Amino acid sequence: MSELKISIVGTGYVGLVSGTCFAEMGHNVVCIDSDESKVSGLKAGKMPIYEPDLEDMVIRNVDNQRLHFSTNLKDHLQDSDLVIIAVGTPINMKDGGTNLEYIWSVVDEISRNLAKETIVVIKSTVPPGTCNLIQNILGEKCYVVSNPEFLREGNAIKDFMIPDRIVVGCDQKIVGLMNRLYSDHISRGIRVVYTNCTTSELIKYASNTFLAAKIAFINEMSSIAERIDVNIMDLKEGIGSDSRIGNKFLEPGPGFGGSCFPKDIMSLINFSEKINANNSLIKSIIESNNLRIIEVSSNIAEIVKEGDSICFLGLTYKANTDDVRTSPAVSIIQNLISKGKYLVKCYDPLGIESAKLILKDSVEYYDDIYEAARGVSLVVVATEWDEFSNLDSAKLKVVMKTPRIYDVRNVINVKNFKANGFEVRLIGSVNV
Ligand code: UDX
Ligand code: UDX
Repeated sequence: MSELKISIVGTGYVGLVSGTCFAEMGHNVVCIDSDESKVSGLKAGKMPIYEPDLEDMVIRNVDNQRLHFSTNLKDHLQDSDLVIIAVGTPINMKDGGTNLEYIWSVVDEISRNLAKETIVVIKSTVPPGTCNLIQNILGEKCYVVSNPEFLREGNAIKDFMIPDRIVVGCDQKIVGLMNRLYSDHISRGIRVVYTNCTTSELIKYASNTFLAAKIAFINEMSSIAERIDVNIMDLKEGIGSDSRIGNKFLEPGPGFGGSCFPKDIMSLINFSEKINANNSLIKSIIESNNLRIIEVSSNIAEIVKEGDSICFLGLTYKANTDDVRTSPAVSIIQNLISKGKYLVKCYDPLGIESAKLILKDSVEYYDDIYEAARGVSLVVVATEWDEFSNLDSAKLKVVMKTPRIYDVRNVINVKNFKANGFEVRLIGSVNV
């Protein structure tokens, strides 16, 4: 493989993982971030985020001099075969549109310092048409490429290394260079879907919206199942075995969260409205997910009574991350404490520090599950962390006021809890 020199701007969840994986594949990578403390931390081997296996891979590639960190794009621009942009594209709170200010600031910096033909790859999720706008700004000296990411937090390295497909939107002239960038993937038979920039941008939104629709659908099915004699896990198997439907992304739960699904769907709604396209199904995904969080909050309020304490196991929006952005667990806790009737005690293996920034001192935080459960009338399993599937029900029973558990991820060992006299409630089945 002929290695490429890559500058990647933005060392968040996406940029840092992508940059490190490109280095692992033999490219020479500089990860650039405007946040000096992040960059100096990374230079000292301190990860700004938790992602399984990332730290070892960063250290390995820094040691073999394929991975570097910097705060200054200008210093690396002339020497790069490719500049990848992976800065955040948060939601604009005013209108639900996408806030592209970080993209524009990087584009502006590139434009001011452009001295040779440059390939600019947009990895950040941006509304359809954005790459064409960037192309107009940067002009003929640049080729703008859309190359969206499909990395799940907690699984990001695997998703990068063994993706189902890679999507690239670019001019025919750039295909050779993008094939070099992904030569390791291509040699392993992974397909690169080439298209134009706008299609590639929309593929990203369509993928996340479709996956979120599957989750909203199974959650509505759970709601139906709970009211009749149907077990959602049997239903899931029954429909998921139809290859036209597929069994992935059909885990029922407290609703989807995270930094991407809610933001990307809102952004697609905003975009489709601007172009007068029909979007009623897309809108209903967000509505359904909001109702799901309310439904789970009400279920909890039905189980406990005023003045009771509730223990939440899990605060992140899913397992294997420290990220609590748009976490259903946090929203449910906020719903409960806004009623002022409950004391909430929390445990999470990695999410406590980021949850504190949102929930502040409105709840109690513990670094031990059984301390968090002491004196409570209900344990809610809100995130599917592995350690929650191995809870010691006997030990929990001793510390709790009332042995009750509501597992909104269906991960606990139900038989064991029942044997120890627990009142058990799961998602999507009434007869536990
Ligand atoms: C990414 C994508 O870029 C986003 O579009 C996608 O939808 C989700 O994933 P993420 O990696 O989660 O975002 O973003 P974040 O963790 O916020 O990191 C962005 C990084 O860019 C931060 O470290 C920030 O300091 C940096 N940044 C931001 C710059 O280096 N320069 C800027 O001008 C702005
Ligand atoms: C998502 C996309 O999957 C990924 O391709 C990329 O575009 C970034 O956004 P991420 O948000 O990190 O990844 O995690 P994901 O595994 O997709 O889960 C998102 C949310 O859906 C979580 O709250 C998760 O708990 C929930 N979920 C997921 C379910 O409730 N049920 C499922 O079956 C799958």
